[in-house]
Amino acid sequence: MSRALHDLLGEIERDRALLEPGRLRERGAALDRLETLRIGAPAAEAGLRDRIEALCAALEAVDGELHRSIRQDIRRGAGAQALLGHARAAGPDRDAAGAAAAGDSYDHLDTLVSGVLQIEAPVGRLAGLAREMVFYQPTPARHLFDLLARTGLGADDVLIDLGSGLGQVALIAAICSGARCIGIEWEASYVQSARRCAQALHLDRVSFVQGDARTADLSAGTVFYLYTPFEGAMLREVLDRLKAEASTRELRICTLGPCTATVAREPWLQPAGAWEPHRPAVFRNG
Ligand SMILES: C[S@@+](CC[C@H](N)C(=O)[O-])C[C@H]1O[C@@H](n2cnc3c(N)ncnc32)[C@H](O)[C@@H]1O
Repeated sequence: MSRALHDLLGEIERDRALLEPGRLRERGAALDRLETLRIGAPAAEAGLRDRIEALCAALEAVDGELHRSIRQDIRRGAGAQALLGHARAAGPDRDAAGAAAAGDSYDHLDTLVSGVLQIEAPVGRLAGLAREMVFYQPTPARHLFDLLARTGLGADDVLIDLGSGLGQVALIAAICSGARCIGIEWEASYVQSARRCAQALHLDRVSFVQGDARTADLSAGTVFYLYTPFEGAMLREVLDRLKAEASTRELRICTLGPCTATVAREPWLQPAGAWEPHRPAVFRNG
């Protein structure tokens, strides 16, 4: 048992490519394997445990340096190239058919996004969600990058994330595109965390509004995003508001998760291509 652990550890230690900044995916996989080794390492084998800790620290330091350098690029207005370059080079976790994995699992791209944004944990008590409001869960980064590639947001676009949580979608979209981005979120402490992140990264095209998507101002939006933030009558009410907005201009509605099936039944919307609930879907009016 111990011999096999030593061999596996030695294999990772010898793989110098893991220290290259661009090897996000491989480093993520190695850190996962090291976590398994850490669990399996006998308590008596202090030397083995020390080697695992040292290797984890060395790999995490490479990630930390990469995140620091991308944050610097973002502050000087060159974040899109830096972040998208690394995200594209690493690519998402893929399914057996070679497509980006469906569903709400997370991968090394989420490590990249959370390391770059460094959104602070919300402070204070949460207001609590009313019935039909869905609790916070961030959009997996591979779906977010996929959506950005498919929507090609431009300087004339205003993206509104309905139920923006800690703000990751609006923040990444503002970094990676020329669009103005707005997050609308019920929980005030999430909004505060998102605003602090935007400030720390000097992002001036993104803003966050504390409020209820049923009553917030939607008049600026050209692209709306819903990662199933609410359901039932609440979703119905917001879709009716979006329909009213759509009678005045061209809109795109992007969705992820169970709300996609409801949105797909809206007669005023057409899907831009085939859709499935576990991947981002894009709909257009008119
Ligand atoms: C599934 S999370 C999505 C978070 C974010 N859009 C993302 O993709 O990373 C849903 C969010 O919607 C918020 N929410 C639920 N109902 C809302 C409402 N009526 N108005 C505004 N925000 C709401 C929740 O507090 C939660 O943060």
